[in-house]
Amino acid sequence: MGLRIYVSCYPSTHNFMKTPRLTLLLLAVGAFLAVPAAFAKTLTVGFAQTGAESAWRTANTNSLKSEAEKRGINLKFSDGQGRQENQIRAVRSFIAQGVDAIVLAPIVETGWEPVLREVKRAKIPIIIMDRTVKVSDESLYACFVGSDFLEEGRMAAAWLAKKTKGQARILELQGTPGSAPANDRRKAFAEGIAGHPGMKVVDSQSGDFRRAGGKEVMEAFLKKHGRNFDAVYAHNDDMALGAIQAIEAAGLKPGTDVIIVSIDAIKEAVQAVADGKINCTVECNPLFGPKVYDLVAKLVAGETVPRVQFNKDELFDSTNAAAALPSRQY
Ligand code: AHR
Repeated sequence: MGLRIYVSCYPSTHNFMKTPRLTLLLLAVGAFLAVPAAFAKTLTVGFAQTGAESAWRTANTNSLKSEAEKRGINLKFSDGQGRQENQIRAVRSFIAQGVDAIVLAPIVETGWEPVLREVKRAKIPIIIMDRTVKVSDESLYACFVGSDFLEEGRMAAAWLAKKTKGQARILELQGTPGSAPANDRRKAFAEGIAGHPGMKVVDSQSGDFRRAGGKEVMEAFLKKHGRNFDAVYAHNDDMALGAIQAIEAAGLKPGTDVIIVSIDAIKEAVQAVADGKINCTVECNPLFGPKVYDLVAKLVAGETVPRVQFNKDELFDSTNAAAALPSRQY
């Protein structure tokens, strides 16, 4: 960049020789501008992911990995394989490696205070992504970015109440016990149907956000409740898609004999809505890569960032699923 400035100002050697002081000044300015670019520090970010329990999670991991590559960020990725202790170990190893920032997708809400204190002592900014943590001291992390799980639960309840005119016996497939999305989606849905005396959650079990889990729990529900239910509320699409396998194997038509409402809006589920097998899926956008690294850049530069940032999520049902399909990215 510096050289370009010099050439445009000094088209001939003759002029250059005549104005040595100005030349030196411009060369110095050029060098000043070029040096930071040439020696810009490569950021190292540690990312402690929950695991790979769902298609949503895979899309989330890919978003953080591909965006890091695009921006030339050195990403240290750790797959927690569904265990909090693995995530805690990963965070400790990021501290030991002296990373510039840490991103944590906490599998459960509680139990993070000791390790977050260690991060704070090491003066490393930590972004809580996707799932919230419950801590007594909010200064233990820099900021949170994710979806509003309570709003998702409310949207699912409102949609089902409208669809069933307030009359439904509901089977609920919960996410990972103790996780923010399972806690919030359950609570907000229960509150959302509370004003409808004809709506009741007749059974509720965890399928751990996994497709196989959704199928297993649904098989058990079908054995236990026979045909005595009207709707399934799944805390994520993977469990809904697993439940559909069990419902079809039992000779029932998902989407017609059983109303199915779920959360995430992964492409496969939006397709299932268009095909009439899922009735409604509430979006939970996993593509955090750009947002997260914008925050990292600001925090590393010592700038202040918003404490909480929620995504704006949509809802897909028979009215808009088919039209939305071509633009679904995950
Ligand atoms: O925390 C977000 C949830 O975790 C998604 O709804 C689910 O699919 C994932 O595993």
